[in-house]
Amino acid sequence: MLTSLKPKVTTIISNNAESVENRLTELCNLLRDTVDYYDWVGFYFKNGDKEELKLGPYAGEPTDHTIIPFGKGICGQVAVGNENFVVPDVAAQDNYIACSITVKAEIVVPLFKNGENIGQIDIDSNTPNPFTEEDERFLEFVNQEVSQIL
Ligand code: SME
Repeated sequence: MLTSLKPKVTTIISNNAESVENRLTELCNLLRDTVDYYDWVGFYFKNGDKEELKLGPYAGEPTDHTIIPFGKGICGQVAVGNENFVVPDVAAQDNYIACSITVKAEIVVPLFKNGENIGQIDIDSNTPNPFTEEDERFLEFVNQEVSQIL
């Protein structure tokens, strides 16, 4: 199912006629519209030289958390931990920043450019425990594609 989305991801990313921002927004919309348990899909990127993340393109409800300090929340932990973070039940997490009371689970996958962790894709789900290794592999693929245009 997720694998079948890969060609569409590549098509969106390689469309040089569009700005990077528009391509990333289109990608977020594709993922949110196609995968029923992806309810909020967005990118965070390192904010210049600061030890914080800044919200980039996203699809879903607007969030107050446009800046997240490194180490804070799931996103901030991935910024320093450099590994995928799958949260089957957000209520069981101590270091978690709630964006919406409807969210039950979250997955954050770091995005590397030339080996450096420069951001991440963040997905919230209103479905409990929906993420599997298939999501991790797929989102790693998405980030590899995205890193090529950054
Ligand atoms: N829940 C995230 C914050 C970002 S929102 O999900 C959009 C976290 O704990 O880092």
